[in-house]
Parts: sequence; structure tokens; C-alpha cells
Amino acid sequence: MILVTGGAGFIGANFVLDWLTTCDEPVLNLDKLTYAGNLHNLDSLQGDARHVFVQGDIGDAALVSRLLAQYQPRAVVNFAAESHVDRSIHGPEDFIQTNVLGTFRLLEAARHYWQALPAVNKEAFRFLHVSTDEVYGTLSATDPAFTEDNTYAPNSPYSASKAASDHLVRAWHHTYGLPVLTTNCSNNYGPLHFPEKLIPLMIVNALAGKNLPVYGDGMQVRDWLYVRDHCSAIRRVLEAGHLGETYNVGGWNEKPNIDIVNTVCALLDELRPRADGQSYRSQITYVKDRPGHDRRYAIDARKIERELGWKPAETFDTGIRKTVQWYLDNADWVANVQTGAYREWVQTQYQEAPVSAATCA
Ligand code: NAD
Ligand code: DAU
Repeated sequence: MILVTGGAGFIGANFVLDWLTTCDEPVLNLDKLTYAGNLHNLDSLQGDARHVFVQGDIGDAALVSRLLAQYQPRAVVNFAAESHVDRSIHGPEDFIQTNVLGTFRLLEAARHYWQALPAVNKEAFRFLHVSTDEVYGTLSATDPAFTEDNTYAPNSPYSASKAASDHLVRAWHHTYGLPVLTTNCSNNYGPLHFPEKLIPLMIVNALAGKNLPVYGDGMQVRDWLYVRDHCSAIRRVLEAGHLGETYNVGGWNEKPNIDIVNTVCALLDELRPRADGQSYRSQITYVKDRPGHDRRYAIDARKIERELGWKPAETFDTGIRKTVQWYLDNADWVANVQTGAYREWVQTQYQEAPVSAATCA
């Protein structure tokens, strides 16, 4: 069994679904179910004994220690985090609580568990920390892409909190010998992406006839990776990564934001044309820039490609088409996350009947 934290969120849920379609090793999924956690993301696993869901906080040391002792996972994959930069600007405290303090508590629980394991299990144990390229700060148009040797220079409360968590993970390896791995990935996109992030927000707003808010001049560059390719990279690092190492993960897909928005509009024009015959582009609205907005991110993924033989399966063209189609096919999912109906469902499903070992496989 592996312990996945944050497995009801965007990347975590894709990872759990991907994991259980390609292998039979059970997953213990610990998620606090913040606004970003959605058990409907895991609907297809209902009744599947390989998936054990526990609602809880990575910062709850007693809970995490109890789960580790009970389920004896061979690895922890830590997705749990507050993940949205704009929210971190609006209210940074949750980011410090979960991304810094929560990661610290998770590391401590994992360390005590790992130290007490029999030698063979101790040798095999892994703590994989899922992080971001934003820890490296910003690039100019001509700077080379981020390598694993770039210095950390986080600029937002979100990226500072993720940088802090990366440093804790590193320190727990160097000081205590905890067998850690860290991945620093670029911008993900794909199914189950919460519609506060650029791509899903543009799709959802376009279909609702709302403005498509482009921050500043729209020429900020992000490096996009289809979410299932991020999942395959994490699996590969978990399988073969060298202890204590960090791996940059990216799809060599640098694009200015305005190009992304135009691409989304073009796909919607083709797949769900507006009734008035106009392009969705007419909904694009340039708005005030994000404070401290990083200008460019770009990932040099040669280390993971060379050392672990990982390559993304999707190009941006194939991935973005699949993504737009997924949102067109899943209007109920969008309506649920927007209205909070899934919150009521969670209340009924999981809180009236307490989630405990008894309900788990
Ligand atoms: P998300 O916001 O969609 O999901 C986060 C999940 O973590 C949610 O299910 C939430 O309920 C859960 N969570 C939050 N606080 C928790 C806590 N204290 N205890 C337990 N669970 C908690 O985020 P995401 O986009 O899926 O990102 C997952 C991870 O990948 C994060 O660590 C993020 O920093 C990292 N990352 C994201 C991207 C991206 O483009 N989205 C890129 C690189 C790295
Ligand atoms: O680089 C990896 C990071 O990518 C992850 O670590 C974060 O968890 C993830 O949220 C993402 O951060 P970004 O800030 O890059 O993603 P976001 O989707 O919020 O914004 C992408 C770009 O689009 C960014 O330059 C800001 C811009 N933007 C965003 C929104 C929501 C707009 O122009 N308009 C918008 O409405």
C-alpha cells in the first residue's frame, strides 16, 4: 500500500485513478477536503477495496501516525497543499499551515514510522514530495529553463510556502536519513482541474458567456504539462529516483497566457460554437495584473528524461483538445464544484457515517 495525501484534488485524484488502473497496489488516500478536494473526482472507485479514503489533515500528527501504524504503507506521496497563487495573495495563512507546518508534521510522522520499520521495509520506504517550478522564481525571456541546480527564489506566498516545504524535505533526508524524493513540476492542465486556474476558468467562463480575464499584458509564459504525464513522472521517480534527489518535470511547452486563452477559444469555437456565430475571443478582457506576477517559468526536464527514461505522452495540442472536450462532457462536475453541491454530498456520505478503518478495505 502507498499513502497518497491530497488525493481528492486535481493532480492527486488523477494520480490515484491512474495508479489503480495500472496496478493493484492499494492506496490510502488522506485528504482534508478543502474547497479544492472533491470526492466526486473518485466516484469511479466507489466500492473498490483498493482505495481507502480518510478525511483528515496532514498536520494532524496523531491521525497520520495512527494511519501509518495501521496501514504500514511502503511510501508516502505528498500532494496535499494549498495550491492557488491568487488565494495565497488574498490569504496566506492557510498556505503556511498546510504547506509548511503540515509538511513538517507529515515528515515527522513518517520519520518515526520509518525509523521503527524492520530493515528490509526501512530500506524500501520512500517519501515523495510533490512540488512546483515556482520555487525557482521568475525567468527573463532569454534565461535558460530551470534546472535542478537553480537557486530558490520564490516570489509569492504560495511559492514561498512550497519552497519552505522542499527545504524541510531536504533537511529530513540530510539530517535523519529519511529516504526522500522531490519533484518540481511546471503548470499542469487536464480533467478535474478546479475552475479557479487559468485553463479551466477560461473554458467555464467562456461557456457561461462571462469575461475571460487576462492578467496584465497576457505575455507571461508558463510551461504546460498534461496532468497524466505528471502522474507518470511521479510513478517513475517513486520507482527509480535516487534518494535525496530532486527532479524537474515539464513538457517543453512554453506558451504565453494569451496564446493559451486563444487556443481554448478556438477549440470551443469548433466544438461548441456560440449561438450568435461570434468567436469566444470576443469575451477576452485584459484586467489588472497579479501582484508580484512571475513573468516566465520554463522547465529543463533533461535530468528525468536522461536518468529515468521518462517522457510525456501528450503534446500540448492533444492534451488541450482532450481537456476542453472533458469540460464539455462534464458540465455536472463543473456545476457541482461551483455550487458546492458536492460539499453536501460529502457531508452525507462521509461525516454522518464516520470514516474509520471499519469502513475501509
Ligand atoms: P489542488 O488544490 O487541486 O488539491 C489539493 C488537495 O489537497 C485537495 O484535495 C485538498 O483538499 C487537499 N488538502 C489541502 N490541505 C490539506 C491538508 N492540510 N491535509 C490534507 N489534505 C489537504 O492542488 P493540485 O493542483 O492538485 O496540486 C497538488 C500538488 O501538486 C500541490 O502540492 C501543488 O503544490 C503541486 N503542484 C501543482 C501544480 C499545478 O499546476 N496544479 C504544478 C506543480 C506542482
Ligand atoms: O508552475 C506550477 C504552478 O502552476 C503550480 O505550482 C500551482 O499550484 C498552479 O496553480 C500554477 O500556478 P500559476 O499561478 O501559474 O497558475 P494559474 O492557473 O493561477 O495562472 C496561470 C497564468 O495565467 C498566470 O500567469 C496567471 C494567469 N491568469 C490566471 C488566472 C486565474 C490570468 O491571466 N487570468 C486568470 O484569471
